[in-house]
Amino acid sequence: MTAIVLYCRPGFEKECGAEIQEKAAWSEVYGYLQLTKNQGVVYFHLNNPEDGETLMKSMPLRRLIFARQWFMTVTEKIALPDYNRVEAIVEALGSEWQYADLRMETPDTNDGKELSKFCRKLAVPLRQALRKNKVLTEKGNKEGSNKEGAILHALFLSGKEVIFGFSLVHNTSAHVMGIPRLKFPNASPSRSTLKLDEAFLHFIPRDEWETRLTSGMTAVDLGAAPGGWTYQLVRRGMMVTSIDNGPMAESLMETGQVKHRMMDGFKYVPQKQAVYWIVRETGAGKKVSIPDQTPIDWLVCDMIEKPQRVIDMVINWFTEGYCREAVINLKLPMAKKYDIVKELLEKLHEALPNCYYEAKHLYYDRDEITLFVKYKVHRVNQRN
Ligand SMILES: C[S@@+](CC[C@H](N)C(=O)[O-])C[C@H]1O[C@@H](n2cnc3c(N)ncnc32)[C@H](O)[C@@H]1O
Repeated sequence: MTAIVLYCRPGFEKECGAEIQEKAAWSEVYGYLQLTKNQGVVYFHLNNPEDGETLMKSMPLRRLIFARQWFMTVTEKIALPDYNRVEAIVEALGSEWQYADLRMETPDTNDGKELSKFCRKLAVPLRQALRKNKVLTEKGNKEGSNKEGAILHALFLSGKEVIFGFSLVHNTSAHVMGIPRLKFPNASPSRSTLKLDEAFLHFIPRDEWETRLTSGMTAVDLGAAPGGWTYQLVRRGMMVTSIDNGPMAESLMETGQVKHRMMDGFKYVPQKQAVYWIVRETGAGKKVSIPDQTPIDWLVCDMIEKPQRVIDMVINWFTEGYCREAVINLKLPMAKKYDIVKELLEKLHEALPNCYYEAKHLYYDRDEITLFVKYKVHRVNQRN
């Protein structure tokens, strides 16, 4: 039976499943879920197999909060023999379809990590055999001729079982298993730094970093101590106001780029600066008001606080025009996480019609998701 297979953080299968089922129904695509707790893999079995490709073309993976990556199955589970595994796979795949690339993947579990050694060994002979059989297009030719621009996913469930599927090049994660492997910078005072690093990588296109994440910009970091997020802003040359009652790392204070304010993040208001609002057309022909100049370029927030309070704070910042863009971590220690997230995003949507937002459960997030907000029409401040 054809299924959409989704990868998520182990423990979030229910949220990932509820989300795909609900969002697929918007496109009148229906099916049932199969998931095992803590496996990080969700199967959405389609009532009508033809719907699969339609869904993968029409729903941007970026709009799914809890799924890191997805593919549509092209084989059932294949039982792997102890010998001649490559031959068994090549035979099961046939040569009807062509793909631009192969991703060798496993569930994001301890067993999966063990399996990845096995996958690495198998990858070279498997790639060679698939190229020979023209299932994989030649290196550098990114367009498969039949499944145009498709990536072949091999999900190894064990050393004895694998399932194959495809995702579309224009609607897939750039990373194997949807996981960007970021290097922890030794100069950062906390591991949390990887969350903001990943958020910038995910939400801001690389070719816009020079104008949107650049030296001379101003940022406010709420709940900043000991400074992992501030570190990411400082290393990009920004001037940062870090708000937290806790102490900030000395190394950051010594850069001269950080002002530390020991106070409640909800009470902090950026220094007064007149905000003029201008009316702009969005691409959709609608008119929205955006601030002409904001006191702050970036608001980032990693406060361990109720997400409802944090959303109200974000709404206030964008209503007042205090910042241009924001990355906000929303803590979700409660049950019914997906319902809460929906409520929060609905509130944001209603309160900020002039803003664009996206939310993602990033790899380096734990019991939390990351929200990105900006005005719908972008205006680069004069000082850039
Ligand atoms: C997860 S830690 C932040 C880690 C930080 N992003 C880093 O990378 O090092 C959460 C911080 O939020 C701070 N915090 C919680 N509630 C706050 C509030 N209302 N105002 C300011 N800081 C707050 C805590 O003191 C704590 O230092």
